[in-house]
Amino acid sequence: MTIEIQDNLKTEQGEEELGIIRVVHNGEDADSDPRREIPALGFRDYWYPVIGARKVPIKKPLYLKILGDELCIFHGESGIAIVSDRCPHRGASLSDGKCHYQGTVSCPYHGWTFDEFGMVKAVLSEGPGDISSIPGNVSVRNYPTVTLHGIVFAWMGVGEPVAPNQDLPPELFDGSLIQHDSTIWQINWRPALENLSDNHASYIHRNAVQILMQRFMKASYKGTRSLIIGGGCGLIYYSDGDELTRPYREFFPEVNGYWPKHSYRKAWTWLFATRPLRWIWRVGDGYPPSKMYHPDSHEWNTGPHMPGQQRISGGSALYMRWCVPIDENITKEFYLYATRPTSWINKLWICMIYGFTQRLLRNRNLGFQDVDVISNLRYDLPERFSSYDVETMGWRRLAILSARFGGRHDKIPRDVLKKLNHRALIDIQSLNKHLPADVLRLIRE
Ligand code: FES
Ligand SMILES: [Fe+2]
Repeated sequence: MTIEIQDNLKTEQGEEELGIIRVVHNGEDADSDPRREIPALGFRDYWYPVIGARKVPIKKPLYLKILGDELCIFHGESGIAIVSDRCPHRGASLSDGKCHYQGTVSCPYHGWTFDEFGMVKAVLSEGPGDISSIPGNVSVRNYPTVTLHGIVFAWMGVGEPVAPNQDLPPELFDGSLIQHDSTIWQINWRPALENLSDNHASYIHRNAVQILMQRFMKASYKGTRSLIIGGGCGLIYYSDGDELTRPYREFFPEVNGYWPKHSYRKAWTWLFATRPLRWIWRVGDGYPPSKMYHPDSHEWNTGPHMPGQQRISGGSALYMRWCVPIDENITKEFYLYATRPTSWINKLWICMIYGFTQRLLRNRNLGFQDVDVISNLRYDLPERFSSYDVETMGWRRLAILSARFGGRHDKIPRDVLKKLNHRALIDIQSLNKHLPADVLRLIRE
Protein backbone atom coordinates (compact mmCIF):
# COMPACT_ATOMS: atom_id res chain seq x y z
CA MET A 1 0.00 0.00 0.00
CA THR A 2 1.41 3.38 -0.93
CA ILE A 3 0.30 6.57 0.67
CA GLU A 4 0.45 9.74 -1.27
CA ILE A 5 1.58 12.36 1.19
CA GLN A 6 3.49 15.13 -0.46
CA ASP A 7 5.32 17.98 1.17
CA ASN A 8 5.10 21.61 0.17
CA LEU A 9 2.44 21.04 -2.40
CA LYS A 10 -0.06 23.64 -3.47
CA THR A 11 -3.50 22.69 -2.18
CA GLU A 12 -6.72 23.15 -4.07
CA GLN A 13 -7.06 26.41 -2.17
CA GLY A 14 -3.77 27.67 -3.40
CA GLU A 15 -2.23 27.64 0.07
CA GLU A 16 0.96 25.88 0.93
CA GLU A 17 0.54 23.09 3.38
CA LEU A 18 2.43 20.10 4.59
CA GLY A 19 1.02 16.63 4.35
CA ILE A 20 -1.51 16.99 1.58
CA ILE A 21 -3.54 14.20 0.09
CA ARG A 22 -5.58 14.98 -2.95
CA VAL A 23 -9.26 15.06 -2.09
CA VAL A 24 -10.81 17.06 -4.93
CA HIS A 25 -11.45 15.55 -8.35
CA ASN A 26 -9.54 17.92 -10.59
CA GLY A 27 -10.70 16.32 -13.78
CA GLU A 28 -7.54 14.67 -15.04
CA ASP A 29 -9.32 11.38 -15.65
CA ALA A 30 -12.18 9.53 -14.01
CA ASP A 31 -9.88 6.90 -12.48
CA SER A 32 -8.05 9.52 -10.46
CA ASP A 33 -11.26 10.73 -8.77
CA PRO A 34 -10.30 10.56 -5.07
CA ARG A 35 -13.98 10.09 -4.09
CA ARG A 36 -13.77 6.59 -5.53
CA GLU A 37 -11.58 5.59 -2.60
CA ILE A 38 -14.46 6.13 -0.15
CA PRO A 39 -16.53 2.92 -0.21
CA ALA A 40 -19.86 3.52 -1.98
CA LEU A 41 -21.61 1.19 0.47
CA GLY A 42 -20.02 2.63 3.58
CA PHE A 43 -17.26 1.58 5.99
CA ARG A 44 -18.13 -1.88 7.23
CA ASP A 45 -16.16 -2.24 10.46
CA TYR A 46 -18.35 0.05 12.55
CA TRP A 47 -21.50 0.05 14.63
CA TYR A 48 -24.48 1.60 12.80
CA PRO A 49 -27.89 2.71 14.05
CA VAL A 50 -30.50 0.43 12.52
CA ILE A 51 -33.94 1.15 13.95
CA GLY A 52 -35.83 2.28 17.04
CA ALA A 53 -36.34 -0.87 19.16
CA ARG A 54 -40.04 -0.07 19.57
CA LYS A 55 -40.59 -0.41 15.83
CA VAL A 56 -39.73 -4.13 15.90
CA PRO A 57 -42.99 -6.13 16.18
CA ILE A 58 -43.19 -8.89 18.80
CA LYS A 59 -44.69 -11.66 16.67
CA LYS A 60 -43.21 -10.83 13.29
CA PRO A 61 -39.71 -10.30 11.96
CA LEU A 62 -38.87 -7.13 10.07
CA TYR A 63 -36.90 -6.61 6.86
CA LEU A 64 -34.29 -3.87 6.53
CA LYS A 65 -31.38 -3.22 4.27
CA ILE A 66 -28.19 -1.63 5.65
CA LEU A 67 -24.90 -1.22 3.77
CA GLY A 68 -26.44 -3.31 0.99
CA ASP A 69 -27.00 -6.28 3.34
CA GLU A 70 -30.52 -7.68 3.60
CA LEU A 71 -31.36 -8.12 7.27
CA CYS A 72 -34.03 -9.90 9.28
CA ILE A 73 -34.73 -8.23 12.63
CA PHE A 74 -36.66 -9.87 15.45
CA HIS A 75 -36.86 -10.18 19.22
CA GLY A 76 -34.20 -12.64 20.41
CA GLU A 77 -33.88 -14.08 23.93
CA SER A 78 -31.58 -11.31 25.12
CA GLY A 79 -32.80 -8.35 23.06
CA ILE A 80 -33.29 -7.31 19.45
CA ALA A 81 -31.51 -9.78 17.15
CA ILE A 82 -30.35 -9.32 13.57
CA VAL A 83 -29.51 -12.11 11.14
CA SER A 84 -28.99 -12.22 7.39
CA ASP A 85 -32.39 -12.29 5.69
CA ARG A 86 -31.66 -15.13 3.27
CA CYS A 87 -32.45 -18.63 4.50
CA PRO A 88 -29.44 -20.94 4.00
CA HIS A 89 -31.81 -23.75 2.89
CA ARG A 90 -33.27 -22.44 -0.37
CA GLY A 91 -32.95 -18.69 -0.07
CA ALA A 92 -36.41 -17.65 1.12
CA SER A 93 -36.68 -14.36 2.96
CA LEU A 94 -36.67 -14.99 6.72
CA SER A 95 -38.43 -11.68 7.33
CA ASP A 96 -41.45 -13.10 5.47
CA GLY A 97 -41.63 -15.71 8.24
CA LYS A 98 -43.03 -15.72 11.75
CA CYS A 99 -41.82 -15.67 15.35
CA HIS A 100 -43.72 -18.75 16.63
CA TYR A 101 -41.48 -19.31 19.66
CA GLN A 102 -39.91 -16.77 21.96
CA GLY A 103 -36.51 -15.55 20.77
CA THR A 104 -36.69 -17.28 17.36
CA VAL A 105 -37.67 -16.68 13.76
CA SER A 106 -39.04 -19.37 11.43
CA CYS A 107 -38.51 -19.36 7.67
CA PRO A 108 -41.82 -19.14 5.75
CA TYR A 109 -40.89 -21.97 3.34
CA HIS A 110 -40.00 -25.16 5.31
CA GLY A 111 -40.04 -23.76 8.80
CA TRP A 112 -36.34 -23.82 9.64
CA THR A 113 -36.30 -22.01 12.94
CA PHE A 114 -33.34 -19.85 13.97
CA ASP A 115 -32.28 -18.47 17.33
CA GLU A 116 -30.83 -14.99 17.96
CA PHE A 117 -27.32 -16.18 17.04
CA GLY A 118 -28.56 -17.41 13.66
CA MET A 119 -28.30 -21.12 14.54
CA VAL A 120 -31.04 -23.50 13.36
CA LYS A 121 -32.83 -24.81 16.48
CA ALA A 122 -35.55 -26.87 14.80
CA VAL A 123 -36.92 -27.82 11.40
CA LEU A 124 -40.68 -27.66 11.85
CA SER A 125 -41.48 -29.44 8.56
CA GLU A 126 -39.25 -32.45 9.34
CA GLY A 127 -39.78 -33.22 12.99
CA PRO A 128 -38.19 -32.93 16.44
CA GLY A 129 -35.07 -34.57 17.84
CA ASP A 130 -32.71 -36.52 15.58
CA ILE A 131 -35.13 -36.77 12.65
CA SER A 132 -33.41 -33.75 11.10
CA SER A 133 -29.65 -33.37 10.85
CA ILE A 134 -29.91 -29.60 10.38
CA PRO A 135 -30.47 -28.19 13.91
CA GLY A 136 -27.21 -27.22 15.61
CA ASN A 137 -25.30 -27.74 12.37
CA VAL A 138 -26.48 -24.99 10.06
CA SER A 139 -26.56 -21.28 10.74
CA VAL A 140 -27.14 -17.97 9.07
CA ARG A 141 -24.93 -14.91 9.57
CA ASN A 142 -25.64 -13.07 12.79
CA TYR A 143 -24.96 -9.36 13.32
CA PRO A 144 -24.03 -8.38 16.91
CA THR A 145 -26.41 -5.74 18.29
CA VAL A 146 -26.61 -3.39 21.22
CA THR A 147 -29.66 -1.33 22.19
CA LEU A 148 -28.98 2.10 23.69
CA HIS A 149 -31.65 4.70 24.48
CA GLY A 150 -34.14 2.58 22.54
CA ILE A 151 -32.00 2.59 19.39
CA VAL A 152 -30.73 -0.70 17.98
CA PHE A 153 -27.12 -0.54 16.78
CA ALA A 154 -25.61 -3.34 14.69
CA TRP A 155 -21.98 -4.24 14.07
CA MET A 156 -21.73 -4.45 10.28
CA GLY A 157 -18.15 -5.78 10.14
CA VAL A 158 -17.22 -9.42 9.82
CA GLY A 159 -14.58 -9.55 12.55
CA GLU A 160 -15.00 -9.12 16.31
CA PRO A 161 -16.87 -5.91 17.12
CA VAL A 162 -15.06 -3.16 19.00
CA ALA A 163 -16.63 -2.19 22.33
CA PRO A 164 -19.70 -0.01 21.66
CA ASN A 165 -18.48 2.73 24.01
CA GLN A 166 -15.19 2.91 22.13
CA ASP A 167 -16.90 3.69 18.84
CA LEU A 168 -20.33 5.15 19.45
CA PRO A 169 -20.81 8.81 20.41
CA PRO A 170 -20.18 9.62 24.09
CA GLU A 171 -23.60 11.25 24.56
CA LEU A 172 -25.10 7.75 24.42
CA PHE A 173 -23.24 6.84 27.62
CA ASP A 174 -23.11 10.01 29.72
CA GLY A 175 -26.69 10.32 30.90
CA SER A 176 -27.77 12.81 28.23
CA LEU A 177 -31.38 12.91 27.11
CA ILE A 178 -31.44 11.34 23.64
CA GLN A 179 -34.22 11.86 21.10
CA HIS A 180 -34.06 10.28 17.68
CA ASP A 181 -35.66 10.36 14.27
CA SER A 182 -34.95 9.16 10.73
CA THR A 183 -35.76 10.05 7.13
CA ILE A 184 -34.85 8.47 3.79
CA TRP A 185 -32.82 10.35 1.18
CA GLN A 186 -32.69 9.03 -2.39
CA ILE A 187 -28.96 9.55 -2.76
CA ASN A 188 -25.67 7.79 -2.05
CA TRP A 189 -24.38 8.31 1.51
CA ARG A 190 -21.19 10.12 0.42
CA PRO A 191 -22.79 13.22 -1.13
CA ALA A 192 -25.46 12.98 1.59
CA LEU A 193 -22.78 13.38 4.26
CA GLU A 194 -20.82 15.97 2.34
CA ASN A 195 -23.87 18.21 2.65
CA LEU A 196 -21.97 19.72 5.56
CA SER A 197 -21.75 23.11 7.22
CA ASP A 198 -20.49 25.00 4.23
CA ASN A 199 -22.35 28.13 3.24
CA HIS A 200 -25.23 26.37 1.52
CA ALA A 201 -27.55 27.12 4.42
CA SER A 202 -27.97 30.82 3.71
CA TYR A 203 -28.83 30.10 0.08
CA ILE A 204 -30.62 26.77 -0.35
CA HIS A 205 -32.40 27.08 3.00
CA ARG A 206 -33.26 30.77 2.67
CA ASN A 207 -36.97 30.03 2.73
CA ALA A 208 -36.92 27.26 5.33
CA VAL A 209 -39.13 28.25 8.27
CA GLN A 210 -36.25 28.42 10.75
CA ILE A 211 -34.03 30.42 8.39
CA LEU A 212 -36.83 32.85 7.56
CA MET A 213 -36.95 33.74 11.25
CA GLN A 214 -33.36 34.96 11.35
CA ARG A 215 -30.88 36.99 9.39
CA PHE A 216 -28.57 35.18 6.99
CA MET A 217 -25.66 33.44 8.60
CA LYS A 218 -22.33 32.21 7.38
CA ALA A 219 -21.63 28.65 8.33
CA SER A 220 -17.91 28.68 7.79
CA TYR A 221 -14.97 30.97 7.25
CA LYS A 222 -12.26 31.36 4.76
CA GLY A 223 -8.98 30.13 6.16
CA THR A 224 -10.50 27.79 8.72
CA ARG A 225 -8.54 24.61 9.15
CA SER A 226 -9.66 21.09 9.80
CA LEU A 227 -7.99 18.89 12.38
CA ILE A 228 -8.38 15.12 12.60
CA ILE A 229 -8.50 13.59 16.05
CA GLY A 230 -9.60 9.96 16.37
CA GLY A 231 -12.57 9.44 14.09
CA GLY A 232 -13.53 13.12 14.10
CA CYS A 233 -12.57 15.91 11.80
CA GLY A 234 -13.63 19.21 13.27
CA LEU A 235 -12.86 22.72 12.17
CA ILE A 236 -10.74 25.15 14.08
CA TYR A 237 -12.25 28.60 13.81
CA TYR A 238 -10.19 31.72 13.81
CA SER A 239 -12.86 34.20 14.71
CA ASP A 240 -15.74 34.36 17.12
CA GLY A 241 -19.38 33.63 16.44
CA ASP A 242 -20.36 37.26 15.76
CA GLU A 243 -18.69 37.20 12.41
CA LEU A 244 -20.99 34.42 11.37
CA THR A 245 -23.86 36.84 10.92
CA ARG A 246 -24.28 38.76 7.71
CA PRO A 247 -26.07 42.02 7.01
CA TYR A 248 -29.73 41.66 6.16
CA ARG A 249 -28.98 42.58 2.57
CA GLU A 250 -25.77 43.02 0.64
CA PHE A 251 -25.16 44.80 -2.64
CA PHE A 252 -23.35 42.78 -5.28
CA PRO A 253 -21.93 45.34 -7.76
CA GLU A 254 -20.92 42.50 -10.06
CA VAL A 255 -24.56 41.84 -10.84
CA ASN A 256 -25.79 45.29 -9.90
CA GLY A 257 -28.29 43.98 -7.40
CA TYR A 258 -29.03 43.17 -3.76
CA TRP A 259 -29.15 39.76 -2.16
CA PRO A 260 -31.59 38.81 -0.84
CA LYS A 261 -33.71 40.70 -3.34
CA HIS A 262 -36.13 41.90 -0.72
CA SER A 263 -35.91 42.68 2.98
CA TYR A 264 -39.31 41.42 4.12
CA ARG A 265 -37.74 39.28 6.77
CA LYS A 266 -36.77 42.39 8.70
CA ALA A 267 -40.47 42.76 9.50
CA TRP A 268 -40.45 39.70 11.75
CA THR A 269 -36.88 38.67 12.55
CA TRP A 270 -36.87 41.06 15.56
CA LEU A 271 -39.88 39.20 16.94
CA PHE A 272 -38.25 35.80 16.61
CA ALA A 273 -35.07 37.11 18.20
CA THR A 274 -36.94 37.72 21.45
CA ARG A 275 -36.45 35.17 24.17
CA PRO A 276 -39.99 33.74 24.20
CA LEU A 277 -39.76 32.87 20.49
CA ARG A 278 -36.14 32.34 19.59
CA TRP A 279 -36.23 28.67 20.62
CA ILE A 280 -38.04 27.97 17.35
CA TRP A 281 -34.99 28.67 15.19
CA ARG A 282 -32.18 28.68 17.78
CA VAL A 283 -32.47 24.95 17.48
CA GLY A 284 -29.91 24.32 20.18
CA ASP A 285 -31.84 26.40 22.69
CA GLY A 286 -34.26 24.70 24.95
CA TYR A 287 -36.62 27.14 26.64
CA PRO A 288 -36.25 27.49 29.51
CA PRO A 289 -32.63 27.03 28.48
CA SER A 290 -30.97 23.83 29.55
CA LYS A 291 -27.29 23.33 30.30
CA MET A 292 -24.89 24.31 27.54
CA TYR A 293 -23.80 21.30 25.58
CA HIS A 294 -20.20 21.55 24.51
CA PRO A 295 -18.27 18.30 24.65
CA ASP A 296 -14.75 19.09 25.88
CA SER A 297 -13.30 17.11 23.02
CA HIS A 298 -12.51 18.11 19.50
CA GLU A 299 -13.15 14.61 18.23
CA TRP A 300 -16.83 14.53 19.21
CA ASN A 301 -17.59 18.22 18.78
CA THR A 302 -18.92 19.94 15.66
CA GLY A 303 -17.74 18.31 12.44
CA PRO A 304 -17.95 15.06 10.53
CA HIS A 305 -17.11 11.81 12.30
CA MET A 306 -16.48 8.30 11.02
CA PRO A 307 -18.21 6.30 9.74
CA GLY A 308 -20.73 8.89 8.46
CA GLN A 309 -21.87 11.35 11.10
CA GLN A 310 -22.32 15.08 10.85
CA ARG A 311 -22.23 16.54 14.35
CA ILE A 312 -23.25 20.04 15.33
CA SER A 313 -22.83 21.26 18.87
CA GLY A 314 -24.78 24.44 19.36
CA GLY A 315 -26.19 26.14 22.43
CA SER A 316 -27.65 23.57 24.72
CA ALA A 317 -27.93 20.65 22.32
CA LEU A 318 -25.80 18.33 20.29
CA TYR A 319 -27.35 17.43 16.97
CA MET A 320 -26.17 14.52 14.90
CA ARG A 321 -27.16 13.43 11.42
CA TRP A 322 -25.81 9.96 10.68
CA CYS A 323 -25.82 8.94 7.02
CA VAL A 324 -26.41 5.19 6.98
CA PRO A 325 -26.09 3.61 3.53
CA ILE A 326 -29.09 1.45 2.60
CA ASP A 327 -27.78 0.69 -0.86
CA GLU A 328 -25.76 2.65 -3.41
CA ASN A 329 -28.60 5.07 -4.11
CA ILE A 330 -30.49 5.33 -0.82
CA THR A 331 -29.37 6.68 2.54
CA LYS A 332 -31.12 6.57 5.87
CA GLU A 333 -30.58 9.82 7.74
CA PHE A 334 -30.57 8.83 11.40
CA TYR A 335 -30.89 11.87 13.67
CA LEU A 336 -29.79 11.94 17.29
CA TYR A 337 -30.50 14.95 19.47
CA ALA A 338 -28.74 15.10 22.83
CA THR A 339 -29.52 17.55 25.62
CA ARG A 340 -28.87 17.83 29.35
CA PRO A 341 -32.10 18.95 30.98
CA THR A 342 -31.75 20.82 34.27
CA SER A 343 -35.13 19.87 35.74
CA TRP A 344 -38.13 17.72 34.94
CA ILE A 345 -39.97 20.79 33.58
CA ASN A 346 -37.05 21.48 31.31
CA LYS A 347 -37.05 17.82 30.21
CA LEU A 348 -40.77 17.91 29.54
CA TRP A 349 -40.37 21.05 27.45
CA ILE A 350 -37.49 19.59 25.41
CA CYS A 351 -39.58 16.46 24.75
CA MET A 352 -42.59 18.58 23.76
CA ILE A 353 -40.83 20.82 21.25
CA TYR A 354 -38.73 18.07 19.65
CA GLY A 355 -41.44 17.07 17.20
CA PHE A 356 -41.94 20.65 16.04
CA THR A 357 -38.43 22.17 16.00
CA GLN A 358 -36.42 19.04 15.11
CA ARG A 359 -38.59 16.48 13.35
CA LEU A 360 -40.71 18.92 11.39
CA LEU A 361 -38.73 22.13 10.92
CA ARG A 362 -35.17 20.81 10.87
CA ASN A 363 -35.17 17.22 9.64
CA ARG A 364 -37.99 17.64 7.11
CA ASN A 365 -38.68 21.26 6.14
CA LEU A 366 -34.98 22.12 6.05
CA GLY A 367 -33.58 18.66 5.32
CA PHE A 368 -35.75 17.98 2.30
CA GLN A 369 -34.55 21.22 0.70
CA ASP A 370 -31.10 19.62 0.64
CA VAL A 371 -32.48 16.39 -0.80
CA ASP A 372 -34.33 18.20 -3.60
CA VAL A 373 -31.00 19.49 -4.89
CA ILE A 374 -28.46 16.85 -3.97
CA SER A 375 -30.50 13.86 -5.11
CA ASN A 376 -29.87 15.23 -8.60
CA LEU A 377 -26.18 15.89 -8.03
CA ARG A 378 -23.46 14.28 -10.14
CA TYR A 379 -20.86 12.65 -7.94
CA ASP A 380 -18.52 11.74 -10.77
CA LEU A 381 -17.81 15.01 -12.56
CA PRO A 382 -14.75 17.16 -11.92
CA GLU A 383 -15.30 19.70 -9.15
CA ARG A 384 -13.88 23.09 -8.27
CA PHE A 385 -13.85 23.80 -4.55
CA SER A 386 -14.21 27.20 -2.94
CA SER A 387 -12.11 28.15 0.05
CA TYR A 388 -15.26 27.76 2.17
CA ASP A 389 -15.38 24.02 1.47
CA VAL A 390 -12.90 23.26 4.23
CA GLU A 391 -15.14 20.87 6.12
CA THR A 392 -15.77 18.68 3.08
CA MET A 393 -12.06 18.61 2.35
CA GLY A 394 -11.27 17.65 5.94
CA TRP A 395 -13.86 14.87 5.91
CA ARG A 396 -12.51 13.46 2.66
CA ARG A 397 -8.99 13.38 4.10
CA LEU A 398 -10.23 11.37 7.06
CA ALA A 399 -12.38 9.05 4.95
CA ILE A 400 -9.80 8.43 2.25
CA LEU A 401 -7.04 7.74 4.77
CA SER A 402 -9.33 5.39 6.72
CA ALA A 403 -10.12 3.56 3.48
CA ARG A 404 -6.43 3.25 2.64
CA PHE A 405 -5.54 1.90 6.06
CA GLY A 406 -7.88 -1.03 6.51
CA GLY A 407 -11.23 0.79 6.64
CA ARG A 408 -10.91 2.08 10.21
CA HIS A 409 -9.84 5.53 11.39
CA ASP A 410 -7.83 4.04 14.26
CA LYS A 411 -5.61 2.17 11.80
CA ILE A 412 -4.26 5.39 10.24
CA PRO A 413 -0.60 5.53 11.37
CA ARG A 414 0.19 8.29 13.84
CA ASP A 415 2.97 9.77 11.75
CA VAL A 416 0.64 10.14 8.78
CA LEU A 417 -1.89 11.99 10.90
CA LYS A 418 0.79 14.10 12.50
CA LYS A 419 1.90 15.29 9.12
CA LEU A 420 -1.65 15.97 8.04
CA ASN A 421 -2.48 17.96 11.17
CA HIS A 422 0.87 19.74 11.32
CA ARG A 423 -0.14 23.06 9.79
CA ALA A 424 -3.46 23.24 11.63
CA LEU A 425 -1.67 22.63 14.94
CA ILE A 426 0.78 25.47 14.30
CA ASP A 427 -2.14 27.83 13.64
CA ILE A 428 -4.09 26.60 16.65
CA GLN A 429 -1.24 27.33 19.02
CA SER A 430 -1.42 30.98 18.07
CA LEU A 431 -5.07 31.14 19.09
CA ASN A 432 -5.92 32.75 22.35
CA LYS A 433 -8.97 30.66 23.22
CA HIS A 434 -10.06 27.64 25.15
CA LEU A 435 -8.95 24.47 23.43
CA PRO A 436 -10.53 21.06 24.07
CA ALA A 437 -8.52 18.55 26.10
CA ASP A 438 -7.69 16.27 23.16
CA VAL A 439 -6.33 19.19 21.11
CA LEU A 440 -4.09 20.23 23.99
CA ARG A 441 -2.87 16.65 24.29
CA LEU A 442 -2.03 16.61 20.59
CA ILE A 443 -0.12 19.90 20.84
CA ARG A 444 1.94 18.59 23.77
CA GLU A 445 2.73 15.31 22.05
S1 FES B 1 -36.04 -21.95 2.32
FE1 FES B 1 -36.03 -21.55 4.38
S2 FES B 1 -36.73 -23.33 5.27
FE2 FES B 1 -36.58 -23.84 3.19
FE1 LIG C 1 -28.67 21.81 4.41
